[in-house]
Amino acid sequence: MYDNPPKESVSHAHGKLIMVGEHSVVYGQPAIALPFPVIEATSIVKELVNLELTPKIMIDSLYFTGSLEEAPRKMSGISACILATLETLDEKSAGLEIHLSSTIPVGRGLGSSAAVAIAIVKSLFSYYEKELSHETLMTLVQIAEKDAHGNPSGIDMAAASRDFPIWFQKEQEPLPLEISATFYLIVADTGQVGKTRMAVESIRDKYQLNPVETKHSIDLLGDITYTAKDALLNGDLAILGSALNAAQKELASLGVSDEGIDNLVEVARATGALGAKLTGGGRGGCVIALAKDANHASELAQALEAAGAYQTWNYEVEKTN
Ligand code: PMV
Repeated sequence: MYDNPPKESVSHAHGKLIMVGEHSVVYGQPAIALPFPVIEATSIVKELVNLELTPKIMIDSLYFTGSLEEAPRKMSGISACILATLETLDEKSAGLEIHLSSTIPVGRGLGSSAAVAIAIVKSLFSYYEKELSHETLMTLVQIAEKDAHGNPSGIDMAAASRDFPIWFQKEQEPLPLEISATFYLIVADTGQVGKTRMAVESIRDKYQLNPVETKHSIDLLGDITYTAKDALLNGDLAILGSALNAAQKELASLGVSDEGIDNLVEVARATGALGAKLTGGGRGGCVIALAKDANHASELAQALEAAGAYQTWNYEVEKTN
């Protein structure tokens, strides 16, 4: 036991799920995203007890353990976010240990990178006992997100930092979304790392090559998102399910689905899902399937795992009113 235990602070941030509107959100259309509290990232900041030996910031994570200066390229966004946070706090970059862990699988469209960055910024502010505004949190997390995703719409960090469903439009403050009926989603992981950046670029190329058709799909995805919003507000799960199916059709025609996603979507529908689609960037990553009720959700999870889903999560999305 220490007489004076080293200072320590712990922060968590949950994952996120895009229900509908991924990709079209990049072109100014709205999207609907949910917090996904079933999985989360954790950051623990500890005082380094032996400063003479290690007057640095030490990182301890699944991918890398060592001093921040020696962190590999794939952690450059996280490193930049840590340094910018310390600068904002007006604290010296020394004498800290940051332990990172996460139950959010990386690169599956579930908001892993945003959640890790949110947990880090929160834990540093709490370690130094400083108040953190939402605006400052977003500014600092965006540093990591830009590195991870190029030029993201911001939906990941908006959803991963809020505890309620959001209606999101690029460069606008997200609005809380009303949900009038509790529903059950199964999130199924294809086991393949999603290629969001590549998928976003492929739609951009498609837009240049084939503007009329591509714009039509993007506008349709926008309309589908409005339909999904009304369905959530009215608690109409059948319409919500059809909206998810319609979105999957457009995303597939835009070229961001793939065989693994199509397989899980088909199995979910054949097992009676009200709707199923990819979630996030696509080309790998995860699928969401809307169940009829809690028992049906378990049935769907079993069917998806039997069909090759790497893992599944059962998520009860509670009504908000
Ligand atoms: O990070 P992902 O894979 O959940 O994708 C984010 C959603 C996209 O619309 C595909 C990209 C973006 O920046 O909005």
